[in-house]
Amino acid sequence: MKDTYRFLAKIYDPLTRIVFFGRLKKAKNTYLNRIQPHHKVLIVGGGTGDELVNLLERNPDQKIDYLETSAAMTTIALDRSGNFNGLNVRFLSEKAGIDGKYDVIITSFFLDLFRDEELIKEAKSLYEELRVSGSWIFTDFQLNHNNKFWQKPLVWLMYMFFRCTTGLKTQKLPNFNRLFEELNLDRNSTLSYYGGLIVSSIYEKKSDILRT
Ligand SMILES: C[S@@+](CC[C@H](N)C(=O)[O-])C[C@H]1O[C@@H](n2cnc3c(N)ncnc32)[C@H](O)[C@@H]1O
Repeated sequence: MKDTYRFLAKIYDPLTRIVFFGRLKKAKNTYLNRIQPHHKVLIVGGGTGDELVNLLERNPDQKIDYLETSAAMTTIALDRSGNFNGLNVRFLSEKAGIDGKYDVIITSFFLDLFRDEELIKEAKSLYEELRVSGSWIFTDFQLNHNNKFWQKPLVWLMYMFFRCTTGLKTQKLPNFNRLFEELNLDRNSTLSYYGGLIVSSIYEKKSDILRT
């Protein structure tokens, strides 16, 4: 399969540091301290491995499945996590390799790649891999009536940038509120960053049965 992030991988971290002044990384780390050493974690679309490195720094024995389709992104994540000798980390390039149930699922700036109709399907398939009372740590952009005047154009620009560099077809943020309403997930805590444009939330799975 073609690696659409091949070009972007090398510049992704410096670029996001410049544009978001490090807030992206800060947001992603918000709830990682809730993860216990015995938890089995699935990181989806983890990119260059910020959460992976953070978790291994805390506990080199953490059980982690790292699902990332871009070989270029995975190479960087592998390189960064190399020092930790993470014997319980599995790098996976396709969903077929994952074996639930997970105690924690992490998606950071991953669900925004999907259009509403694809998002529900994608998220439901991940939801099935999460055990009841497990946590979903979600970090992404949010647009609502409280946004500052520059935030909507910035999100639009980002989608244009991803379209040019990765061929991404999605043009706008999906409706995350509706998504979490449909899934049987209760929000335990949430924090926002960067003038409210970035949100990180931790949800708990209440039941295997979906709300809709
Ligand atoms: C916008 S980047 C976000 C990277 C990282 N999570 C972050 O917060 O910086 C989206 C990532 O999702 C990966 N990706 C795209 N589709 C995927 C899929 N179906 N399964 C797993 N990873 C995927 C891309 O290769 C890319 O690394």
